[in-house]
Amino acid sequence: MDAGGEVIEAILDRDGNPLGYFERDERGGRPWADELCCAAEVSPGAAAAAIVRSLAGWGATVAGGFGSDLVDAGARRLRTFFTYTLSLSPPIPEPRLPSGLQILPAGQFPPEALYEALLAAYPPGHPDHDDDAPASLDGLYDGTLMGPLHPCSAVAWDGRRVVAAVLVQDAEGKPPLAGPWISEAFRHPGPDYAGLGALLLHCVTARASDAGLTALGLSVTDGNPAQAVYERLGFTRTARWTDLEFPNA
Ligand SMILES: CC(C)(COP(=O)(O)OP(=O)(O)OC[C@H]1O[C@@H](n2cnc3c(N)ncnc32)[C@H](O)[C@@H]1OP(=O)(O)O)[C@@H](O)C(=O)NCCC(=O)NCCS
Repeated sequence: MDAGGEVIEAILDRDGNPLGYFERDERGGRPWADELCCAAEVSPGAAAAAIVRSLAGWGATVAGGFGSDLVDAGARRLRTFFTYTLSLSPPIPEPRLPSGLQILPAGQFPPEALYEALLAAYPPGHPDHDDDAPASLDGLYDGTLMGPLHPCSAVAWDGRRVVAAVLVQDAEGKPPLAGPWISEAFRHPGPDYAGLGALLLHCVTARASDAGLTALGLSVTDGNPAQAVYERLGFTRTARWTDLEFPNA
């Protein structure tokens, strides 16, 4: 089945009846069932065990409560996260900036200029700490991870170094679950910059609405205090997701 360019695959029982559907993807060299869901004709509890068996060795991203059915059937939970969306109409006005800081297009800087703030913002123990964070940032910059960097992406520059960044990808698809996406938001953790992340997010959403975008999505890991920042800025939650891995048979 082909839904808007994405190839949807079905998981079938022995009689050829559908148990579930997913979009085939790959992550870190292993097959990945994206947006895995249960077929409407079967009960999630009954389908879960067969799906865990047929996807042995795979990873998957699952929406809503079906993730818990799969965990009960033997899958291992890797991460729970939430997706959010912000409508950009009516247009958002640009906030006032504190003196001494400039908000500049992220595209004016190479990704290396953001590494110091990035590594400081996601130390070991942070729910989104990633040993390969600089390589992921490079992939966001060059468009290989989520589509091209949108020109509304911005950094905060204190005259000496980049102290915060908000990156937007011109990702494919339609809001609220796809389309233009905030792929990164971080600030240097020093007390001098408290509140700068929200300010830069506000600035970038204003620039995105100026550029004609109608909505921005993002995802945030369960347990990351950034959730409260997004909700204060008016983002609304669209779905709860679980990343899982299925044990080898
Ligand atoms: C998300 C972020 C950009 C927001 O920046 P900000 O607007 O300057 O907001 P702050 O960093 O001051 O933090 C916002 C809230 O989270 C809390 N918080 C931040 N880091 C925290 C931590 N490690 N542990 C507990 N609480 C934390 C703050 O106390 C604050 O709470 P309050 O609003 O109730 O006072 C910034 O917190 C950050 O860079 N975080 C690390 C990277 C990250 O997780 N990015 C989001 C990925 S989805």
